[in-house]
Amino acid sequence: MSVVTVEIEGVPLHLAHPDELAVNWVGQEEVMRQLLAAWLVVDPQDLPMNPRLIGKPGVGKTTLAYAAAKRLGRDVYIMQATVDTRPEDLIVQPVIEGASQLRYVASPLLSAVIRGGVAVLDEGNRMSEKSWASLAPLLDTRRYVESVVAGIKIKAHAQFRLVTTMNDDASTFDLPEYIHSRLQPQILIDFPERDEEYQILRENLPFAEERILQYVTDFLQLAHAAEERYTVRDGINVARFAIKLGSLATDRIHQSAALEMAVVQVLGEEALRYARRNRPSTS
Ligand SMILES: Nc1ncnc2c1ncn2[C@@H]1O[C@H](COP(=O)(O)OP(=O)(O)OP(=O)(O)O)[C@@H](O)[C@H]1O
Ligand SMILES: [Mg+2]
Repeated sequence: MSVVTVEIEGVPLHLAHPDELAVNWVGQEEVMRQLLAAWLVVDPQDLPMNPRLIGKPGVGKTTLAYAAAKRLGRDVYIMQATVDTRPEDLIVQPVIEGASQLRYVASPLLSAVIRGGVAVLDEGNRMSEKSWASLAPLLDTRRYVESVVAGIKIKAHAQFRLVTTMNDDASTFDLPEYIHSRLQPQILIDFPERDEEYQILRENLPFAEERILQYVTDFLQLAHAAEERYTVRDGINVARFAIKLGSLATDRIHQSAALEMAVVQVLGEEALRYARRNRPSTS
């Protein structure tokens, strides 16, 4: 892919490429509707909001953010936040080029700001207040960011949208109120209903046998009812490993054992209590 460069206030910036994921959002239309609503602009005086997707690891936060942006036909720029993300990482980074040349590289977030794409600031709860603070003007009525490194101020494209995802159980930083109030509304992704969960598994594992999909759906539904933390991602991993183990197995018994073995090796012994036993039933 060729490098895209734009010039802002006389400074050439190299832009990031948008992300392409091979995922389709299945079911769970209500959270999709909430996210699209938050981004809507209903009047020339109106502004889009910056929603926060909240849920357990693996419930589908990143997938929803991506799929919603794609429904709008926009390019998506995913930026992974970590405890080490510094303010400059979010905006512009200088890269040394040749002997005495500096090149300015726009972050995925800034690339979305400039191109009018959708920025997904993934796992935003891991990022420090200092880094969030540098985005404050972007997240309110001002809609601009400043790069200290490049010495420029960048106004957001009218089509620019932002969403951040946060795990509800691993908040590394407690964000201060002024950041909180800029990241609204909060959209909670919960465990899906049985039929939706089955459809999600099938979408992600189109090559899986029906028996495996049913087994994993049963497992997840029992675990959800017990308020366990296992999510559809865990289910996908269990099914994937069971299929691999099964493909090396020589007989039917081994194939059944493969599912239990996959549960134990992916999630641990304690997860077996939610697994349907494959032994002949005595009742
Ligand atoms: N409604 C859905 N439709 C299709 N796939 C889904 C859906 N929900 C979850 N998935 C699948 O579940 C897996 C986990 O989703 P995802 O990575 O989006 O979770 P996450 O909430 O972002 O997790 P983390 O907090 O660890 O980043 C992915 O493989 C995704 O394709
Ligand atoms: Mg994610």
